[in-house]
Amino acid sequence: MRRQIVIGNWKMNGNTTANQKLLAGLVDAWTGVHQAEVAVCPPYPYLAAAAAQLENSNIGLGAQDLSKNGNGAYTGEISGEMLVDSGCRYVLVGHSERREYHGESSQLVAEKFQVALDHGLIPVLCVGETLEEREDDKTFDVIGKQLLAVVDHCGLPGVAKGIIAYEPVWAIGTGKTATPEMAQDVHSYIREVLGPEGDSMRILYGGSVKPDSAEGLFAKKDIDGALVGGAALNAEDFVAICRAAE
Ligand code: 13P
Repeated sequence: MRRQIVIGNWKMNGNTTANQKLLAGLVDAWTGVHQAEVAVCPPYPYLAAAAAQLENSNIGLGAQDLSKNGNGAYTGEISGEMLVDSGCRYVLVGHSERREYHGESSQLVAEKFQVALDHGLIPVLCVGETLEEREDDKTFDVIGKQLLAVVDHCGLPGVAKGIIAYEPVWAIGTGKTATPEMAQDVHSYIREVLGPEGDSMRILYGGSVKPDSAEGLFAKKDIDGALVGGAALNAEDFVAICRAAE
């Protein structure tokens, strides 16, 4: 049995006041015992405050990226050690916005995945094709390569300690969600690539997930939750998505 998990990726949004309000709303709504796991990934400057506010709650904390390097002379970078020290349990690696706007290669993403594991963090590896790649029938090819770069670097047992998020680039922030069937096809392919080791891995869908699209996605057998962007900034919407995962 794989426990469903919904992770909110706040991206570069929020401020002290808005975050406090959002987290208070989540903590209030997500008390007690739940079947699904929930976590949020605020921007770095707010991690420590979020950790304090989430203490004694059952909402986990994650970061949106980490450096491949350990502490040292790397101006502007954030190390795995710092994330652990700030109360993080999860860290996203290889988000398409990092790959696209910061030129992160699959090799760098693989190195970051390993660094996260080395620090006892749970890496959430994001993979996904662009619209052009989908239209050229290259979806499986692109995703296979993104996955294998990490498998080659970390080994299958290493990869299996993380979480995968399938986020088609064309569905991110566009309001265009992949249909449950489209997502299921890719999730089942990802599980095939990972082999038996992948059976216990959680594979999340991300890309314009909203309360009204969540249930259909979660009903698919290889979809184990969601990585949520825009809708994670609204407590009511995010909680509705979390509830759909139960
Ligand atoms: P949206 O839910 O805003 O499309 O963002 C998805 C995403 O990129 C989560 O990491």
